[in-house]
This record gives sequence, structure tokens and C-alpha cells, in this order.
Amino acid sequence: MKTQQKQTWGQCLAGFGCALLLANPAFAADPANGEKLYNGGCFKCHDTTIHTRPDKIIFSKKALIKRVEFCEGNAGMNWNKGQIEDVAEYLNKTFYKYEN
Ligand code: HEC
Repeated sequence: MKTQQKQTWGQCLAGFGCALLLANPAFAADPANGEKLYNGGCFKCHDTTIHTRPDKIIFSKKALIKRVEFCEGNAGMNWNKGQIEDVAEYLNKTFYKYEN
């Protein structure tokens, strides 16, 4: 066990597996990237004022991710799950501020 741990750390120092060891959890969303993505393709139908409108339709993080997925499909952006989560994180941090 001890030898194996040593080996893993050694490999990490050598540059192998460091991402796995240190970048955990690997799913942390990146709102700065989300902002770039949003600005690159979400202004076709609405701007960001829609996220603070009085009759908004989003009341949770989960619903926000679903809506981003839906709009992303309409926009034909072909984002992957990580990109969708980045955009949802950006919108949540900037406008919605839902805990979950
Ligand atoms: C094809 C047109 C279209 C595009 C492109 C589009 N949206 Fe939308 N979006 C809408 C419409 C229409 C609504 C309002 C829906 C309603 O009121 O029921 C909306 C609403 C939303 C909402 C909910 C606003 C609220 O709080 O009530 C979010 C979040 C959203 N869009 C995100 C995005 C993102 C992210 C993108 C870029 C991938 C995007 N939209 C691109 C049409 C679009």
C-alpha cells in the first residue's frame, strides 16, 4: 500500500496522473468560459435582460441547466455537457444566484 502510494505521487510529480489527483472534482464549472460561450451565441433571440425579467421562468439551478440545454439546442451550438454547465454557472453566478 505504502509503495503504491509513493509510486502514484512519483508519477504525479513526473507529470502523469496529476490532473486526476489534483483536479478533483473534475466537474467544477468555469463561469468565465460560460460567459464567453454565452456571448458567442446566445444573443440571437434575447440578451441577458431576459434573466432578470419580472416574469422569469427559472427558479432553480436544475431548471436553469435544463433551459440552457433547450436554448442551446435551438441555437444549434452543439455544446457538450461541460459547456452547458459552464454557461449555467455563469448565468447563476451573475443573475439567478440559486443555491441549488
Ligand atoms: C432560437 C431563439 C433562442 C436562442 C438562440 C436562445 N434562446 Fe434562450 N430563450 C428563448 C426564448 C423565446 C425564451 C423565453 C421562453 C419563455 O418565456 O417561455 C428564452 C429564455 C431563456 C432563459 C430563461 C430566462 C428566464 O429566466 O426566464 C434562459 C436561461 C436562456 N434562454 C438561456 C439561453 C442560452 C444560454 C442561450 C445560448 C445557448 C439562449 N438562451 C439562446 C429563445 C432563445
